[in-house]
Amino acid sequence: MKLWGGRFGKETEHIVHEFTSSLRFDRHLARQDLRVTRAHALALRECGVLSPEECERVLSALEDMGREVEEDTFPFADDEDVHSAVERVLVERLGEVGAKLRTARSRNDQVAADLRLYLMEETTEILHLLVGLMQVLVELAEENLGVIMPGFTHLQPAQPVLLSHHLLAYFEMFRRDVERFAQARSRMDKCPLGSGALAGVGYPLDRWLLAEELGFGGITSNSMDAVSDRDFAADFLYAAALTSVHLSRLAEEIVLWMNPRFAFLRLDEAYTTGSSLMPQKANPDLAELIRGKTGRMVGHLVSLLVMLKGQPLTYNRDLQEDKEGVFDAAEQLRSMLEITAAALRTAEFDRERMEEAALEGYLNATDLADYLVAKGIPFLMAHEKAGKAVRLCLERGGIPLESLSLDDLRDIDPSFEEDVYRCLSLQECVRARDLPGGTAPGRVEEALREARGWLETESLRLQR
Ligand code: ARG
Repeated sequence: MKLWGGRFGKETEHIVHEFTSSLRFDRHLARQDLRVTRAHALALRECGVLSPEECERVLSALEDMGREVEEDTFPFADDEDVHSAVERVLVERLGEVGAKLRTARSRNDQVAADLRLYLMEETTEILHLLVGLMQVLVELAEENLGVIMPGFTHLQPAQPVLLSHHLLAYFEMFRRDVERFAQARSRMDKCPLGSGALAGVGYPLDRWLLAEELGFGGITSNSMDAVSDRDFAADFLYAAALTSVHLSRLAEEIVLWMNPRFAFLRLDEAYTTGSSLMPQKANPDLAELIRGKTGRMVGHLVSLLVMLKGQPLTYNRDLQEDKEGVFDAAEQLRSMLEITAAALRTAEFDRERMEEAALEGYLNATDLADYLVAKGIPFLMAHEKAGKAVRLCLERGGIPLESLSLDDLRDIDPSFEEDVYRCLSLQECVRARDLPGGTAPGRVEEALREARGWLETESLRLQR
C-alpha cells in the first residue's frame, strides 16, 4: 500500500518503485518507528485527535507489532519504506483509527526522529565498548609497567620509552573519541517531531510531551532545519571514522609487532588465522581487517557529506541515502572495538625482545648530547659531538655508544667523565624524561592513576 495514491491516475512503474523503495534497509529502524508512532499517538490523544479509547487500541496494536519485530515475524510486504509498512499494518488491524495516525506528521519528521533515536542508542553502545577497550589498555599498561621498548619516529629507532607510555598514547586517542561521541550524542538529543513535512503542523501537538516520551533532552528549534538536518549523522560518522583511524593505527602496530623481526607481541593463537597453502602461518588477519575496514568507515563519512552538500532546503529524497552508511558504520565500529579489546586481552609482550631492540640504533644519542649540555655546552654543539660519537661507533662496525672508551669520548670533547656511562643506560634515559606527559616511570604511574580514575568516573556516568 502506498501513502500517496490519490492524485495519481496511473500505477507507479515497477522499476520506479524498486528504485525508490528503502524498506530493504530502513526496516532496521522498525523499533524506533514504532516508538515514535507510540509517542505520536499519545500526543494526538492530548490534542483530541484520538479519543482515549482509540489511543488505547493504537498502543496495544503497537505493542503487538513491537513483539513481531523482535521475533522477526512482522508482516513486511512490498512497502515503500518502514514508515509505510508500520502505517499499513496499523490500518489493516485498526481500520479508521489506524488511518488517523497520519494526522500532524510526515515521514520527513518521522524519519529524522527515528534516525536520531537509532544513533543515540548506537552511540551509547559504542561508548561502553570504547571504555571497555580503554580498560584493557590500562590493564596491559599496569601489567607491563617498567618494560622498556624502542620509541620510533619515521619508523626508525628514536628514543627509549616505556611500553606502558606507548599503550597510554592510545588511551588518550580513545579518550578523545569518547568525548567526541558524547558531544555528538548531545546534538542528536533533540526531538524533531511536530516539524511535519517542513513548516510545522496545524495541530497543537505538545512537542515537549513527544520529546519526553521518547527520552529526548530537548526539541529542535526550526521545522525546516529539523526535517533536512543530518549534521548529527555526520557527527556520528566523523567520530566513528576517527575512532577507526585510531584502531587502524593500533592494528598496524599489532601487525608489525607480530612480525618475527620485531617479535614484540604475541596474540593468543585463537586470535590468529592460518594459510591454506603455507602450513606454518599464524597471521594477524583481524588487525589487517580493522585496517581495511577503516577505508570504508572514512568512505561513509565522505559519502554523507557529499550527499548533503548540494541540497536546497528542505527535505529531499537524497536524504534516504543517509542510512546504509550509518548502519554499516555503527555495526562495523562495534565489531572492531569488540574484537580489538578481546584480542588485546590475550596479548603477551616479549619484554626481552623489546629491551634488546631498544639497545640497538643509538636510542641514547640524545642523552649523550644532554650530558654535554649539563657540562655547559650549548645543545647545538653537543648535538654535533654526540653525532660524531655515533659516527665513530658506526665506523667500528656498529658498536654501541657505551662501548666507546673514555679516551675515545674525550677526543671528541674533554668534558666527558666516568659518569657518562650511567646516563647512557636505557633506564636512565627513560627516567630523565621526568615531566608531565613524559615517559619517566613516575610520570607514567601518575598517568595510569589518572586514567584509572577517569575510567571509574566514565563507567559510572555510562551506568546512569
Ligand atoms: N524513506 C524516506 C527516507 O528515508 C522517508 C520518506 C520521505 N519521503 C518523502 N517522499 N517525503 O528519507
